[in-house]
Amino acid sequence: MPIYHTLGRIPRKRHIAFRKPDGGIYAEELVGHEGFLGTSSLLYHIHPPTTVKSARRLRETKYEADGDQTLRHRHFLTARAKKGGSATLDRLPLLFNQDIAMLYVEPDENDAHFYRNAQADELVYISKGKGVLETSYGQLPFWEGDYLIIHRGILHRYRFDLNAEQPKLVIFESRGHVRWPKRYRNEFGQLIEGAPYSERDIRRPTFVDPVDEMGDFPILVKQYDGINEIVLDHHPLDVVGWDGYFYPWAFNINDFEPIVGRVHQPPPVHQTFQGDGFVVCSFCPRPYDFHPEAIPAPYNHSNVDSDEVLYYASSEFMSRKGIEFGSITHHPDGIPHGPHPGRAEASIGAKYTDELAVMMDSFHPLKVAKAALAIEDPNYHKSWLQTQHAQFNPPTS
Ligand SMILES: [Fe+2]
Repeated sequence: MPIYHTLGRIPRKRHIAFRKPDGGIYAEELVGHEGFLGTSSLLYHIHPPTTVKSARRLRETKYEADGDQTLRHRHFLTARAKKGGSATLDRLPLLFNQDIAMLYVEPDENDAHFYRNAQADELVYISKGKGVLETSYGQLPFWEGDYLIIHRGILHRYRFDLNAEQPKLVIFESRGHVRWPKRYRNEFGQLIEGAPYSERDIRRPTFVDPVDEMGDFPILVKQYDGINEIVLDHHPLDVVGWDGYFYPWAFNINDFEPIVGRVHQPPPVHQTFQGDGFVVCSFCPRPYDFHPEAIPAPYNHSNVDSDEVLYYASSEFMSRKGIEFGSITHHPDGIPHGPHPGRAEASIGAKYTDELAVMMDSFHPLKVAKAALAIEDPNYHKSWLQTQHAQFNPPTS
């Protein structure tokens, strides 16, 4: 995350004694990736972050693939997903490969435990709901349309406003570091003119007073494809200050400024994030292509080296046959996809789209999780036939 940020109190120089009022020394902790060479932050704790009272393996989370590997287009309806539970422990796995996993949850409770994913960055799309993310780096309020970028190793806890709309979260677990696309930045790291968002659109944590409290504080750490419980002897949110480049942040999809053209623009103009082995794009409300004979609907395409997944985040699609709010389509490498019957013709002359969708393109094939079969529309792969799903209108991806 190439914006330097600092909150709370820190000493004048790194790695020198930073005294507490009682004369003791605050415990310094460097949190960063790529072995001291990637982005990092330096945190100052009241208590050392190492005082573990106990450790145990709670559960396995390795994703199990659908045994039927028949190549076909897939469609999942998250409205059919089991509701409730914890935002961190009751996620429904949908699709995954070695680089990326996509999960879904509609939590109805706030976790007592803190959580940290040690094996993946988490990119969380808040499709519905609002609340506050408590973290070692301060608080990050979130609301509908937010992407929360919670890099690996960042301790956090969701505090949903349970009196507001039912939270609906789409989670991407990334083995690599989630970042801004390189082409949006200049050699100094600043977002360039013409990028679809700027530093002003990036929301960073705000400071909260540290908690100095002893006791048993469970932290659930996802590592080795399982949940591990580490019990600390003190409250983990005991940071008096920090600085650096490694921290959780938020970006709202409605702050993405669409790039439009006279004729159909390809999905890379919608790119929002870069990972290792995948990209994430945002399809936002925008004017359609303005050549008088332009076909705004996407042309048929074969992505010969990527799978394409779309999460439909707008009620705009609710009235359309075959698709609904919360639908997820998976168009795998190996079969072309494109507009449904009649849609290309019908789109000519259209001036504007209200679509809102999150797309993840993976560069290695995705597997469908066995758990996702319960929410699948099994006939979707036949929906391009003239007699099926005639009104279906996917975003212009
Ligand atoms: Fe596509």
